[in-house]
Amino acid sequence: MPKLAGCHILLGVTGGIAAYKSPDLVRRLRDAGAEVRVALTAAAMEFVRPLTFQAVSGNPVHHDLLDPNAEAAMGHIELARWADHILVAPASADFMARLTHGFADDLLATLCLASDAPITLAPAMNRLMWANPATRANRATLAERGVRFIGPGEGDQACGETGAGRMSEPSDIVAALAGSGDDRLAGQRILITAGPTREAIDPVRYLSNRSTGAMGFAIAAAAAARGGEVTVVAGPCPAATPAGVTRIDVETAVEMHEAVIARAGDSDLFIAAAAVADYRAAEAAPEKLKKRDDEGGLTLTLVRNPDILREVAALRSRRPFVVGFAAETERLAEHARDKRRRKGADLIAANWVGRPDSGFESERNALEVFWEDGHTSLASAPKRELADALMELITEQYHAKR
Ligand code: PMT
Repeated sequence: MPKLAGCHILLGVTGGIAAYKSPDLVRRLRDAGAEVRVALTAAAMEFVRPLTFQAVSGNPVHHDLLDPNAEAAMGHIELARWADHILVAPASADFMARLTHGFADDLLATLCLASDAPITLAPAMNRLMWANPATRANRATLAERGVRFIGPGEGDQACGETGAGRMSEPSDIVAALAGSGDDRLAGQRILITAGPTREAIDPVRYLSNRSTGAMGFAIAAAAAARGGEVTVVAGPCPAATPAGVTRIDVETAVEMHEAVIARAGDSDLFIAAAAVADYRAAEAAPEKLKKRDDEGGLTLTLVRNPDILREVAALRSRRPFVVGFAAETERLAEHARDKRRRKGADLIAANWVGRPDSGFESERNALEVFWEDGHTSLASAPKRELADALMELITEQYHAKR
């Protein structure tokens, strides 16, 4: 990870149960070549002792603003100047609030004020604290000032609840920190759909398609590498979840619709890369359908699924920047332009399906991208590489529109 090699990282640790992961984070940062010094808040020391951090970082630990001995060794201004990057993990709701308001009542808050190094926070807190309007407003203010956020992820919490607020894993934090060096999406909330949907016919059969989720998750990795806070709503697919990305698994188009609509208003960017079934069985049979003895066929009545892309693009308030995909087997440019207009997307990325080296089940892809007054071709490349080129274009268009 070249970006971290030789980098001076000041790791701030605030009070929260996730602090037990911070010594592992120090170890991983050092493995990536960084030199690490640790500043603890008083609450953090209730969870992990300074000696642990001293042992893993190989440096004395800092925790007292007014300790004459510590000041004589490496004063807080010197420490603030030493840092190339300040990472606070876990960052509590209280710390986010104090950073927002410029408090300097303890060592860590003072270091953040006294340094011009970039600041990254890996928040960790109870899901309701994270969802609280006060915390959301603090997050938005800090992001506007250029503070970068990694996570939090969703899942089981130490308090016994489930939801968003878990600190990202140390390996994911290190990967996101090492990232691409392009921070133009720092702190932007990016919602992506990926993979196919499955529409049950009976308890054992379903309608679906060939999507593997590879394209959607490649875009998620490219967006996270640019500093985005990325959530993927994924249909059943084998694609791995990239570091620092939150994944929400769903099965049907209706479930995907519900998961997306619940989050779209809180997102800055929405990218619809999933192959969503347009129709589902009007009624899924409760028992396995039996083959009839006569030679007659079986008629299945289908009903329309909600059009997720169209609905997000039509949001009146808090509408994100909307990117759609178009999977085409003929007249690609004509269909894609028409789809963008009909669905109301800001930009549409069209790919051929049913041809070698593009679309579904392929490691490579190529895209024709259309927006209101422009078009560009992204040449055939492995999906992760293509995703970088697409995110570059999306980032430009997104910032131009904002
Ligand atoms: O997953 P991979 O194997 O890597 O393959 C990648 C891919 C081919 C699936 C991907 O690149 C792609 O093209 N995704 C969109 C597939 C699709 O459903 O295209 P469409 O032309 O039918 O739909 C147009 C757009 O509307 C898409 O953004 C789709 O997500 C969205 N849509 C469609 C139907 C629906 N009910 N809701 C939607 O949001």
